[in-house]
Amino acid sequence: MRALIGFLVAALLAAAPLSAAAADPIVIRFSHVVAQDAPKGRAAEHFAQLVAERSGGLVRVEVYPNSRLYGDRDEMAALQAGHVEMLAPSLSKIKVLRRTEFEVFDLPYLFPDVAAVHRVTQGPIGRELLDGMAEHGVIGLAFWDNGFKQMSADRLLRRPQDVEGLVMRIQPSRVLEAQMKALGARPLTIDFSEVYTSLRTGVVNGTENPPSNFYTQNMHLAQSHLTLTDHGWLGYAVLANRKFWEGLPPALRTVLEQAMREATAYANEAALEDNRAAIEAVKASGRTRVIELTPEEKLAWRLALAPVHEEAQGRIPRALVERIYEASGYSPPQ
Ligand code: LMR
Repeated sequence: MRALIGFLVAALLAAAPLSAAAADPIVIRFSHVVAQDAPKGRAAEHFAQLVAERSGGLVRVEVYPNSRLYGDRDEMAALQAGHVEMLAPSLSKIKVLRRTEFEVFDLPYLFPDVAAVHRVTQGPIGRELLDGMAEHGVIGLAFWDNGFKQMSADRLLRRPQDVEGLVMRIQPSRVLEAQMKALGARPLTIDFSEVYTSLRTGVVNGTENPPSNFYTQNMHLAQSHLTLTDHGWLGYAVLANRKFWEGLPPALRTVLEQAMREATAYANEAALEDNRAAIEAVKASGRTRVIELTPEEKLAWRLALAPVHEEAQGRIPRALVERIYEASGYSPPQ
């Protein structure tokens, strides 16, 4: 495959007149909201490096991390308008395209492990979900992992009822609203770029995220407890502006598609590594107490959150939920 791509690029370079070969490269602005050293940040940089190497300089990917260019509130509109060419938003945020089915990924304890996630995201269901975005002027290129979400707060959360009465930051998702309400908390949607400040100033008592986001956003400096609930999944859809993507020379699109396949494998490996390392780093910081749950304690969280599946029924197509239940091996807690 790589030989073919090399041939395609060489042919493209040969076909381009010298002046064009020296012309400005095609620029892809890739905007995201996490730290450069978070899994998604690392994967975006890796994709940029692969594209630079494989396109012979015909394409340059400029990565804008940490909401520097666009944030939660405006990134999707910027993509659809062509102000940026690529994003990788959390699946909890895709609904800004008026597509509510991605909220299925927010259902608590939907996936028993990462392999179950991949049976969905890397199988026919994932492909259908990505293809469905074309009508919104967006090309779905891939799913990238982050990891299982953990609960954090300014107090000990060992039992589900410990969350009662707290104000908990969430992403803009009706399922996540229902999740926090099922625990007796008040959900508050806040942009990712404002989470640390909101925790530090007490606007919210706690939140949820994979350890890699918790650590790279310094949340351990503002949260006294992190409980390893593994209660939800945080993943991403890598998106491109459709008009831009379909306007690329086919040979370059092939180069980018191969680079994306390799960057996806890199992203998923980095996510596993970074989430494991982040838990150790949080422990070593001495600022946050990391709570490991017994199987019985984790079952209590599963039972407390099971009603969220019923609550979401009206909003997520039932056939999709059933297909994902079957692919993921989900079964309601007993
Ligand atoms: C969040 O807002 O918590 C996440 O979507 C951030 C991210 O993109 O990982």
